[in-house]
Amino acid sequence: MLNVAKNTVNIIITKSAEETKAVAKLFAEMIAQERTAQGAVVVALEGSLGAGKTTFAQGFAEGLGVKEKVKSPTFVLVHAHALKKKMRFKNFYHADCYRLESEKDVSAIGLDEAMRDPENIVLVEWARRIKKAMPKDTIRVTFKYINEQTRKINFN
Ligand SMILES: Nc1ncnc2c1ncn2[C@@H]1O[C@H](COP(=O)(O)OP(=O)(O)OP(=O)(O)O)[C@@H](O)[C@H]1O
Ligand SMILES: [Mg+2]
Repeated sequence: MLNVAKNTVNIIITKSAEETKAVAKLFAEMIAQERTAQGAVVVALEGSLGAGKTTFAQGFAEGLGVKEKVKSPTFVLVHAHALKKKMRFKNFYHADCYRLESEKDVSAIGLDEAMRDPENIVLVEWARRIKKAMPKDTIRVTFKYINEQTRKINFN
């Protein structure tokens, strides 16, 4: 997924939150060059509580040039950030589905609409709560807690 000198890298071990942000920033810069097909570019962030999903989202937003502070959308469920005019995409959405009861809530929070629009890049924490609502071509990034400072990040 991360193209490092033409070898595709799928698994990365990070040893700090800063390293995870740096990887996410690089990943976002790559995604921002992507040609969109049907809907939005959708990235599902999977992994247990505290695994690093929001930390990754912060680095990702930085890679898209977002200047606002990216906070965990745990209570608001979806945050929208407008991207700079020169970008190929117009909006960055960051959602957290931990508190969603079912797929039905996806339209209530406007996430289905956001995922349909090819001008959007959408990051979804706890996407497995809304499995059926996720597009087929969703990019999956999975976080595994190794120890306090170490995380294994899998791209596919
Ligand atoms: N290598 C690492 N990568 C990411 N975060 C790390 C790493 N090492 C330590 N951390 C710490 O782990 C915590 C990760 O929290 P974060 O909010 O990103 O998790 P989350 O997956 O979004 O959890 P939640 O499911 O509750 O939303 C932060 O406090 C961060 O500083
Ligand atoms: Mg989080």
